[in-house]
Amino acid sequence: MFPYNRHRRLRKNEAVRSLVRETSLTPNDFVLPIFVAEGKDVKEEIKSMPGIYRHSLDLTVNEVKEIWNLGIKAVNVYVKVNADLKDNTGKEAWNADGLMQQTIKAIKDAVPEMIIMPDVALDPYSIYGHDGIIGNGKILNDETNEALVKMSISHAEAGADIIAPSDMMDGRVGAIREALEENGFPDVGIISYAAKYASSFYGPFRDALDSAPVDIENIPRDKKTYQMDYHNALEALREVEADIMEGADIVMVKPGMAYLDIVRLVKDNYNIPVSVFQVSGEYAMIKAASANGWLDHDKVMLESLTAFKRAGADMIFTYFSKEAARLLS
Ligand code: PBG
Repeated sequence: MFPYNRHRRLRKNEAVRSLVRETSLTPNDFVLPIFVAEGKDVKEEIKSMPGIYRHSLDLTVNEVKEIWNLGIKAVNVYVKVNADLKDNTGKEAWNADGLMQQTIKAIKDAVPEMIIMPDVALDPYSIYGHDGIIGNGKILNDETNEALVKMSISHAEAGADIIAPSDMMDGRVGAIREALEENGFPDVGIISYAAKYASSFYGPFRDALDSAPVDIENIPRDKKTYQMDYHNALEALREVEADIMEGADIVMVKPGMAYLDIVRLVKDNYNIPVSVFQVSGEYAMIKAASANGWLDHDKVMLESLTAFKRAGADMIFTYFSKEAARLLS
């Protein structure tokens, strides 16, 4: 008790603070989401995500080399699909010569050790901007799973290391795992978006891929029939448990900053690597406030990333990966 207990003894300078520090942040913790567009020599900045670009494949390869040299070991790949390739089935998603498949091959050629995590969900390929196939006024679960399986196998054939299903259909992890085994890809892993919430923080991302849900009769312009309700925490445990039973290697909580309680809950309840996604809207908030001089960009960035580690995340998907890795090295 005071005065014998003085917490400030262990805070008196940086040396002692660093001795008692409970968490640390390194570039090994980061996964960088990247956006790939058709064309050559294309570098388009995403308006609501300053500093983040859609690159054509040629420039993506240079990017990935740079990222690797910064100490970042994994990329989460998204492609912007041309409007004329979109339909309700999402079939461009498993085109062996599609932009995603070409990107996976090109990255593997250029930086063989880079861990490639391609996004698996139909939204960039859907005329409706939904993560699944639409029929009978609904997002069809089991039909969508069949599409996601074809998509995942085509990613594995192209050389993906860890498939990243972000769609929130029920049973898709098991279906993908089984298909990977049957098709000769026992070593391809699955990072499942287990606790992915229906969030308004995804806005800028949907600008990046031009993939926002559109107005269709009887179907709301949101993803609340498949992504989780943000009022719920315990439900995340059921989602995580199901994905572990179905064969997930890593589970994800998404978004990040407003969901640190969920990260901790999952970490405390399961012995599986936990990832967290600091999403586009979180990135945009920090960028906008710092551009106005209202926040110190670098300090807020590192504080937010460290908070994920403190909450129990083993890895962080973040658009800040490059900037943070530069600062940390
Ligand atoms: C879609 C997908 C989304 C994100 C990753 N994959 C958006 C959504 O669910 O609508 C969001 C990423 C971000 O906001 O940074 N399957």
